[in-house]
Amino acid sequence: MTASPERLQDAFDPELDRPVLPRHVGFIMDGNGRWAKARGLPRTEGHRHGLEALRRTIRHAVKIGIEYVTIFSFSSENWRRPESEVNFLMGLLRRFLRRDLSELHEANIKIKVVGERADLDPAIRVLLEDAEALTRLNTGMTLVVAFNYGARDEMVRAIRRLADDVAAGHLDPSAITEQTVTGALDTDGIPDPDLLIRTSGEMRLSNFLLWQVAYSELHFSPVLWPDFDENHFDEALDEYCGRDRRYGGLTAKVL
Ligand code: FPP
Repeated sequence: MTASPERLQDAFDPELDRPVLPRHVGFIMDGNGRWAKARGLPRTEGHRHGLEALRRTIRHAVKIGIEYVTIFSFSSENWRRPESEVNFLMGLLRRFLRRDLSELHEANIKIKVVGERADLDPAIRVLLEDAEALTRLNTGMTLVVAFNYGARDEMVRAIRRLADDVAAGHLDPSAITEQTVTGALDTDGIPDPDLLIRTSGEMRLSNFLLWQVAYSELHFSPVLWPDFDENHFDEALDEYCGRDRRYGGLTAKVL
């Protein structure tokens, strides 16, 4: 069975009273380096082709009607890579924001950036902020770009924010709930991912959205990210459609 846009849009679970189509899909786009190595190319070529795979993925997500896509485009640990690779990835983000922004805007996509902005080159920060400002009022898919992002770092910054509020007397510690913590994260206002896809066969979360994926369905694809295409995306969606999400409880299927 293929996940055609029609089938997915019609997919509805009457027992759960919700559509089966995931609202939010997260991507750990892994395997660029291995893809390049297998072809005797420099790692940067893998990232360049990775950007093509990202473009395909965004177009397909829009076509199917996914509401939120989050991409792990640069982790707070990626600074440990050789300077030349880091510079290439920064350049790739610049290229993406300059060349693709008008297409994204025309497709009514809203861009939201998560991650620590303070350590970024001011020129990159301005590009990210301009992309958010330009697309702020768009009502189509939200593309969440995780850049200089690490989930533990995000949680530390959220805890500091809450601790500041407590110290200033604006917040009583007993009033801190899951909602308060969720609201202090960079992803405030964005629903948790329903589905997280990681490519390249690695089966770990690598410090990506750790709080937010508590109940997400995980899909690990053996495909290297530059080869990831619409069919691989549909395979992940098909698998998701067949899963029984219980959120710790029971559903009619198991009773
Ligand atoms: C992981 O592959 C991928 C990255 C660290 C970068 C992801 C970037 C893209 C997909 C291109 C789009 C980028 C932007 C900034 C919009 P890896 O290098 O760790 O691969 P390996 O595990 O095979 O070495």
